[in-house]
Amino acid sequence: EKGTYPHFMLKEIDEQPFVMRRIIKEYQTEDNKLKLDADVRQAMKACDRIYIIAAGTSYHAGLVGKEFIEKLANIPVEVHIASEFSYNMPLLSENPLFVFISQSGETADSRAVLVRIKELGHPALTITNVPGSTLSREADYTLNLYAGPEIAVASTKAYTAQIAVLAILAVDTAQAKELELDFDPMQELAIVANAMEVLTDQKEAIEELVRENLGTTRNAFFIGRSTDYHVCQEGSLKLKEISYIQAEGFAGGELKHGTIALIEEGTPVIAIATQENVNLSIRGNVQEVAARGANTMVFSMKGLEQDTDAFVIPHVHELLTPLASVVPMQLLAYYAALHRDCDVDKPRNLAKSVTVE
Ligand code: M6R
Repeated sequence: EKGTYPHFMLKEIDEQPFVMRRIIKEYQTEDNKLKLDADVRQAMKACDRIYIIAAGTSYHAGLVGKEFIEKLANIPVEVHIASEFSYNMPLLSENPLFVFISQSGETADSRAVLVRIKELGHPALTITNVPGSTLSREADYTLNLYAGPEIAVASTKAYTAQIAVLAILAVDTAQAKELELDFDPMQELAIVANAMEVLTDQKEAIEELVRENLGTTRNAFFIGRSTDYHVCQEGSLKLKEISYIQAEGFAGGELKHGTIALIEEGTPVIAIATQENVNLSIRGNVQEVAARGANTMVFSMKGLEQDTDAFVIPHVHELLTPLASVVPMQLLAYYAALHRDCDVDKPRNLAKSVTVE
């Protein structure tokens, strides 16, 4: 039920701090250890490469998850769009583990891959919000997202839950492999939950940005580097699917390889700047597009902010910045759709779960 909320999407955006806290509770033992199925741990430890298979927003969560697993657990990861993998399967490693990420657990494109890799005899883990779903039943192992039902077609709390669970999985694997770690996922996720509360309290500021910058525009670009680039991809998907503004997420460094030709006087460009090591270069990209007339809005992390930035995101651990920076992106999309009188929860031409290939 929506309760007092005008839309499920807004309710689900606001639920994200609670989802983070529920995930902490569900994946922690009483003596503060990580609580994961021993079979999952074993499968992660035994594989030589992970293939993440997903679609849409879940694919974007997979791109962030790859970073966790590679950086923390030292296992190479490939992330594939399910519908592409089916028809163009890459050369597989000797002991692959397939990880399916799916809110609904019913996405036909992902299921087609699962059926195929089961025929080949490879193990599969499904990370889903619906434990009894097809992808969960047909895989060897399941991790639950504990996000609660997600009704709005635009996925919000499932994305942040997926990233949180992937971080926990990566750390658990690192511990199983006895790797040195200086990262307590539960402590950091608790900080994220608080940051999300601060962010969801700033709806008016985001609505104002939308009114000033996205009112009548036909297109918008999102630019970021490294982890921020993945959030740009998610932010642009969110904006296009519910507000019908043509939106694209780009890696900052790619602009001069073509995209910058699209920048005209007044083109909105949203930049995400949460990573210290690329802060200077993304700032350079912002200047390049501003010099060509773009209407730039920088969303930066506390500590990296500059006076002219449009919005400052509270500080969270560098690995977990997508969990914070995506919240204002979700709200941007929400208010842009609202201001255009679009059907926020049920955008045209889209279904909540895509059960046909
Ligand atoms: O249920 P799934 O996570 O497998 O769904 C995958 C995509 O269809 C889904 O994320 C879609 O892109 C959303 N509408 C995005 O908001």
